[in-house]
Amino acid sequence: MTQDELKQLVGQAAADYVNAHVPQGAVIGVGTGSTANCFIDALAATKQRYRGAVSSSLATTARLQSHGIKVFDLNEIDSLTVYVDGADEIDASGAMIKGGGGALTREKIVASVSEVFVCIADASKRVDVLGTFPLPVEVVPMARTATGRRITAMGGVPVVRVQKDGTPFLTDNGNEILDVKGLRISDPRTLEMHVNAWPGVVTVGLFAARGADICLLGGDTGVETIVYERN
Ligand code: 5RP
Repeated sequence: MTQDELKQLVGQAAADYVNAHVPQGAVIGVGTGSTANCFIDALAATKQRYRGAVSSSLATTARLQSHGIKVFDLNEIDSLTVYVDGADEIDASGAMIKGGGGALTREKIVASVSEVFVCIADASKRVDVLGTFPLPVEVVPMARTATGRRITAMGGVPVVRVQKDGTPFLTDNGNEILDVKGLRISDPRTLEMHVNAWPGVVTVGLFAARGADICLLGGDTGVETIVYERN
């Protein structure tokens, strides 16, 4: 199976999971990226079951609305039963690198208020140690260079994410992203806390303090369901 086919497979599996576990009339938390898009497309078939969704990016909002799924502001919602999102890497504890699509901050906010985080990924995303995929760090633009120095001192190589025309990529929040290469992240929870404490860092794309509860992992033999113990 191609990677795109695997994404469709897990997108459908996530829609099946939500339809089986989430009560009618609920609001669903929805992530960002090509795998999350497959989930949105699959969920559209049963959209009448739900009140709507909370979105983690402008792109996801547009996709949800194109299917006629109502999008709520998170401030209007008390709690979310489930959050479904992809990942750039996921380790054996359910800790992830996210933010390849630049939506890490809103993704982390929505994930933080959701009871269950369902990660959907193709098997290429499973790793023993996080860090081969460059770690995104969203920064307030004036803190870019100072943050880059701190990253370099830690042994990482920060690269400013740019658009095709060479200008800095801006997140939905108007901030920039440093993609950090060269890290071997054996203790993601500690690194997440450490980097998040630097002034000017909005979010580091490590999802360890609030990692996945479940991963629906697509491989050539089908979808494997992995359940993580969270503490
Ligand atoms: C976006 C993300 C995505 O979940 C991550 O980049 C995976 O994307 P894709 O499903 O396209 O491989 O964190 O900010």
